[in-house]
Amino acid sequence: MDMSRCHSLAILLLAHIFALTNTFLISTPTGDCPNPATNCLDETFNKVFDNLGCLGCQTGCKAGYIMTANWKYYTTNKNITEPQWLCIPGTTCPWGHFPDKQGTLDSCPYCGDGCLNCHSFYKCEQCLLGFRLMRSNSTDGTEISHCASTGIACPVPPDHCQHSVYVVAVTGCQGCIICDTGYVSVANQKYRRASSDRTADYVYNGISISGTIELNEPRYTCVQGTTCPSGYHFVHRGELVTCEVSVNDVTVG
Ligand SMILES: *[C@@H]1O[C@H](CO)[C@@H](O)[C@H](O)[C@H]1NC(C)=O
Ligand SMILES: *[C@@H]1O[C@H](CO)[C@@H](O)[C@H](O)[C@H]1NC(C)=O
Repeated sequence: MDMSRCHSLAILLLAHIFALTNTFLISTPTGDCPNPATNCLDETFNKVFDNLGCLGCQTGCKAGYIMTANWKYYTTNKNITEPQWLCIPGTTCPWGHFPDKQGTLDSCPYCGDGCLNCHSFYKCEQCLLGFRLMRSNSTDGTEISHCASTGIACPVPPDHCQHSVYVVAVTGCQGCIICDTGYVSVANQKYRRASSDRTADYVYNGISISGTIELNEPRYTCVQGTTCPSGYHFVHRGELVTCEVSVNDVTVG
C-alpha cells in the first residue's frame, strides 16, 4: 500500500512533467483498459501500463468533473478493470480523498483504505468502523497516521458499499458504514446471535470471534432507500449516519 501510493504520486508527477513539456514518456501502454475511465481531458493514460494497471484520467478531466483517485484501484492491487484516476462530476473531493494540486491541475488523491478523511498522504484523521488509527513517526521525524485492519475480508461482504470491509477480532465483520448513493447503512439484526444460537468463541482465518457474533452477517449492511426502514431511525456520529433500531421497537428479537 505504501509503495503503491508512492508510485501513484510519482507517476502523477511524471504525467504532469509530460503534460508540461510533452517530451517525457513513461512507457508504451500494453493495451486498452477493459473498463476505461470516462470524461478524461485526453486518453493518453487511459490505457494499461506494465506493473501499473489502467491509469485512467491522469491528465485531468473535462469541465465540470474532478480528477479523483479510484479506491478500488488500490484495494484490488491495480486490477486493470479499475482505472487509477476517475473523473467524477463536481468540483470538490469526495469523502476519503483530499484536495491537492499538481501545478494547475486539481486532483483528489486517496487517503487510504479505511480512512474517512485526511489532509495529505499518510495523515489520516479518522478511520471507518473496523479500522484503527495508527500513528507513527517516519524516518524524517514527521508523524504519520493510517488506518489499520486485520486485512481479512468479511466472508459475506455487503453489496453497494463504498469501502473495504474486514473481519475484526472478537466483534466480527463490521460491515458497511458508507453505502452507494441511494442506499443507507442499516444495523443488521442478525449480527448478534440469538441467545439460543450462541456457541463457544471460534476462529476464522486466524482471528478469534466471539460466539455471540454471526460472522456471516455484517454489523451494518446497505439497504436501498434514502430513509431508514420501518422500525429504525437515523443516528449521526460525526459525519457518519447509520440506521439503528428504534428503542421503542421491541418486536424484533
Ligand atoms: C479483476 O477484476 C475482475 C472483475 O471483478 C475479475 O474478474 C478478475 O479476476 C480480476 N483480475 C485479477 C487479476 O484479480
Ligand atoms: C513522534 O515524535 C514526537 C517528537 O519526538 C513525539 O512527541 C511523538 O510522541 C512521536 N509519535 C509517535 C507516534 O511515536
